[in-house]
This record gives sequence, structure tokens and C-alpha cells, in this order.
Amino acid sequence: MAAEFSYHGDALFCEHVPLDQIANEYGTPAYVYSKAAIRSRFHQYEDALAGLPHRVCYAVKANSNLAVLATLAAEGAGFDIVSGGELYRVLAAGGDPSSVVFSGVGKTAAEIRYALEQNIHSFNCESETEIELISTIAASSGQTACIAIRVNPDVDAVTHPYISTGLREHKFGIDIARAEEIYARVARLPGIEVNGVSCHIGSQLLSVEPLLEAADKVLALVQRLRGAGLTIRDLDLGGGLGVPYRSEERRVPVDTFIQRLRGKLQDSNLTLMLEPGRSIVAEAGVLLSRVLLVKTNDDKTFVIVDAAMNDLIRPALYQAHHEILPARRVKGPVQPVKADVVGPVCESGDFFARGRDLPPLAPGDLVAIKTAGAYGFVLASNYNSRPRPCELLVDGARIHVARRRETFPDLIRGESSATGAASGIKQTECEHDQSPCDICTGSS
Ligand code: LLP
Repeated sequence: MAAEFSYHGDALFCEHVPLDQIANEYGTPAYVYSKAAIRSRFHQYEDALAGLPHRVCYAVKANSNLAVLATLAAEGAGFDIVSGGELYRVLAAGGDPSSVVFSGVGKTAAEIRYALEQNIHSFNCESETEIELISTIAASSGQTACIAIRVNPDVDAVTHPYISTGLREHKFGIDIARAEEIYARVARLPGIEVNGVSCHIGSQLLSVEPLLEAADKVLALVQRLRGAGLTIRDLDLGGGLGVPYRSEERRVPVDTFIQRLRGKLQDSNLTLMLEPGRSIVAEAGVLLSRVLLVKTNDDKTFVIVDAAMNDLIRPALYQAHHEILPARRVKGPVQPVKADVVGPVCESGDFFARGRDLPPLAPGDLVAIKTAGAYGFVLASNYNSRPRPCELLVDGARIHVARRRETFPDLIRGESSATGAASGIKQTECEHDQSPCDICTGSS
């Protein structure tokens, strides 16, 4: 966990604010992010890359809240997007379109048009068909699209199978063995300027070796492409650096990774592009939740909290481990209780921890589910018609409401009953005169 989340006395703080104060003021569940932690993670990259031509394009998918994007834009970050919606967010947050790369295995014509209109830096392309579509759209509007081809270097990222992407069997990229032939062909297409080579082999990598192996393969390709007369300026190695979710896991130091890359890139005349997501925001966030009740079935203890799989799906989807800390530490020695921490959703997969040793917890206690800043809120849904939590960005002693908690009216916004029957409920706003409204937010 980032140093920005730490105990002062018995209370767990985010920067200068105790988490129980946040819960009392804004309710639970709530995502709480530390602005200082986001900044410092971004600067780990910038500092390590000093002196090397580079661009750090934060992977928007990891956490696309406007306040997070604006924080990074203000620090000079570029952005890696995978949809028109992400480009819209980047622009709304004040991001510079000329430092945006557009990745993704299936871009629509409308998204390509939007990105061209906004003059993004380049498209990371994953198929010949996609490049032909970009060519047609760009040429018909008299524009030139800069492209890189995402090659699949056939490297095993050694991570969870759902987030490993660099093997031939995966849907991502173009087989590196076919890359030269495809580059030669697409370089002649109208409206296309071949500019770079990209790859991304997977996420949550706790060793740099696969990344370095991929870099070697891609650098050898750059040499061959240049030998064939192509101009290659950018080398995009994607994202993927992991973070410790368990206390015994070790972080991959960003500077060690960059140091090892630096040797390979010296005198290459390439701009190194990176697309980190998780390593910038994961540790900068927690999901704050309140214990509803504790119950025992046979010999099992269940701590039922007010957050659920719809708020944070990583444990259900990837069997991911997230450490759980009490917002108030118990004084003196405590006998841990083995418990499952679960949410109220009607699925057995709705859990945050199983058989975990925890300090004794009682109804009303607050817990912080750690390392939830990446792939947390962005994967949240309204399953079980649960309003999504608020997102709060802490900056020193200030709490900024980065996204207000959803209300019941938010749940049905945009829907209409086929019968046309008047529901008697106004869809536009909360009708209850409370802020935050306990009725609409479902709390207490
Ligand atoms: N670039 C590309 C092309 C990607 O597909 C990804 C992540 C990234 C960059 C950023 O990777 P990062 O630095 O965050 O590892 N929902 C999963 C993770 C999915 C990652 C998808 N692609 C999870 O919660 O673990």
C-alpha cells in the first residue's frame, strides 16, 4: 500500500484525512484515492526515463475518473485509450490529444473518425483490416494517420490467464513472424504513415524478464523494418508492471526496469512509449466499506460488508487477493478471527476474502480493501440494482468528490417502461431532501 495510506495512532488515514471521517461524511462504500500517490507513481516513470526520448501514456482503462486523468494531465502524462469514450474523457480532463495512442483490437469507423478529428498521436493497430479501414477514412478526409502495428512477440507473461496477452494463441496483435510483410504492404496505403512498433504482453507482471524478452524481439524487428527502408520512430512496450497485492509480494521497481531497457535503447533513435495503468493507480486507492453484520454458519464466520462484487469484481473474476485493513486498529494484542468477507449480492462469487485472518470486526466497523485504485470502479456495475459508489480524491487535507454516489433515479435514467405507465417517480433527481440521501444511496 502506498505510504499515503497509513495509520496515525489507531486510525487509518489517506494523506491527512482519517478514513472514518470520510465514511461519516460521504457514506460507504466509497473509493478513496490519494492524489499524492498517483503523482508520485507517475514521477517514478518520468524520473527513471530522464534523458531518454520517451512518452508515458497512462492506460486510461485502469481508472478513468476525470479527476485522476486531470491529475495526470497536469503532470504532463500522455494517454493510452481503447475507445472513443476514453478519448472523450481524456479531452474532458484537459489531456493533450497529441499525446494519445489508440490501442484496442476492434475500433469502429466512428471511433477512428473521432480520433482523427482530434489529431491523436497514433493508432496501435492489431489487424490488416483495421489498417485498411483507417486508411480509407483518413484518405477520404485528406488526413494522414500515424500508425504502429501491435505485434504479438509470443512471450509468456506469466500472469493470470485472463490478463496475459502476448502469446500466439491470444487474440491480440499481429504475429511477429508476419510483421515485415504486413508493414511493407500497409506502408503504401493512402492516408497511412507508418511510425512505430508496439506490443503489450500482459498485466500484473511481477518479473521484468518477459518484458525485456519482448523488448529484444521487437527491437530486432525495428532493425529489420528500418533495413527495409521504413521509418520507425516509436517503440511502444505497452504496460504491465505489477504491484504487490499481498504483503509478501515484491514490487518490480520501475527504475530497475527502465535501467535495463535504457541499455538496449541507447543510440537507437527511438522514442520509448510506455502504457502503464495499474502501476500508477492501483496502490493509490482503497475501497472503503462498512461492516453490516457478522454471521456464522456451522464453523464458518462471514463478515458481511456493504461493498460487493458489483463495486469491485477482481476477487470474483480473477481470484484476486486484496488485503483488508480495519479503519481503526484495536489496541493491544488481538486474537485474529478466520472469516470470509463477503458482500450482499446474491452470488457465492461475491466475496473479497476467504478464510482470512482478520482482527475481530463488528457491525458498523469500517474496513479498507487495499490496492483498489486500478480496475476497481471502472469495472463496477449496477448488478442487483446497486447504485455505484462515490469516488473521492484526497489531496492533503482536502477531499474532492471526484464522482458523486449514484442514486436510485440514476439507476433508471435512460430507461422507459414499454407500457408508458407513469411510475410516479421523477427520473431526473433525488426527491428526498437529504444529502447524502440515505434513501437513494441505500445506506443505513
Ligand atoms: N496497454 C494495453 C494495450 C493494455 O491492454 C493494458 C491493459 C495496458 C496497457 C495497461 O496495463 P497495466 O499497466 O495496467 O498492467 N482488469 C484486469 C487487468 C486488465 C488489463 C488489460 N490491459 C485486472 O483487474 O487485473
